[in-house]
Amino acid sequence: MSVLFEPRKVGRYATKNRIFMAPMSRYRALAGGINPPSTAEYYRQRASAGLIVAESTRVNNWSGGINCPGIYTKEQVESWKETTEAVHKEGGLIFLQLWHAGRASHESLMPEGRDVVAPSAIPITQEVMIENGMATPTPPREITLDEIAELREDFANASRNALEAGFDGVEIHSAGGFIIDTFLQDTTNLRKDQYGGSLENRFRFLKEITEDAIEIWGADRVGVKLSPVSEYNNVGDGNILETFSYVYSQMDKYGLAFLEVNEEMPFSQLSPEKRSIIDDLRKIWSGTYIANGNYDLDSGTAAITEGKASAITYGRYFIANPDLPERFKQNAAFNELNFERFYGGDDTGYTDYPFLSQD
Ligand SMILES: Cc1cc2nc3c(=O)[nH]c(=O)nc-3n(C[C@H](O)[C@H](O)[C@H](O)COP(=O)(O)O)c2cc1C
Repeated sequence: MSVLFEPRKVGRYATKNRIFMAPMSRYRALAGGINPPSTAEYYRQRASAGLIVAESTRVNNWSGGINCPGIYTKEQVESWKETTEAVHKEGGLIFLQLWHAGRASHESLMPEGRDVVAPSAIPITQEVMIENGMATPTPPREITLDEIAELREDFANASRNALEAGFDGVEIHSAGGFIIDTFLQDTTNLRKDQYGGSLENRFRFLKEITEDAIEIWGADRVGVKLSPVSEYNNVGDGNILETFSYVYSQMDKYGLAFLEVNEEMPFSQLSPEKRSIIDDLRKIWSGTYIANGNYDLDSGTAAITEGKASAITYGRYFIANPDLPERFKQNAAFNELNFERFYGGDDTGYTDYPFLSQD
């Protein structure tokens, strides 16, 4: 039997296996960032994962993201309760991913009086989804110090709300070229104030958000996601190893529940140089390390057996296979992934993937 089926201590929890579900936006929230009832059903179906990290969730009404759920209003908290209760009833564990898009956004996704903002006013070319399809993001304005303080408070408030909604913890989304990631990296952060320049300054925003979350949850219920070598959303750093060695070593001191690392983007393969950066960084992390990106049963088993990972988050496999652990166990065939239905629409490609028992 694969080591993927062995339990694992993750912060204050013991997970039933090491087959975790990666956070994945499904853009199915209703007006006001409220989940439809099918969201609870979607996560309930996947509760055999050792741990679910629920999708990017907006911390305020200027976080961006079309039809992304939020965690800043009473109604949103109530709608998430349906999900956490459904997952807990099935014996699952679920963390919520807290998110602000930064410059990977669009003016049509902003409420009145709010702009698309980022650490520095550098536009990106990678498109984002808006009401009528894909669009080039609106060039961002540099976020002000007052807005940084406000956003920090919104992340803390989102943490408090996640606790009230019954989650088992939170994951801070510091990956994928979204706002926190763009503070860390030097091609996207040209600030001259206390949030830019030195490694210490570029790390400051993540540090503050992490320390606030720890105050609310305790470090053993807070995780973080990083993607050091990803160029998604046009992010990048002149010295990835130096920048992320600093970030890993600082974050490691907190004794967090876990670090989740997107090592490789879907549908791509890492260059040997980037693989060696990921491997070098890995050695810095002393706690629970969750590897992510293009893993399958064999490579996930190998990563854990070789001591490279404590657990794996599976993304696309979990979209199409709600009973992924059982399929791995039986070496069963997988359902076909419906790419057209990744984002938005009704429950097709969401809650209608069959379980093995229904095949
Ligand atoms: C449809 C879809 C939505 C995603 N949304 C998010 C998200 O909200 N937050 C996040 O951190 N990563 C997101 N990702 C990335 C996944 O968490 C994961 O890093 C990626 O899919 C690689 O894992 P995999 O190869 O097992 O699919 C998304 C991926 C997909 C396919």
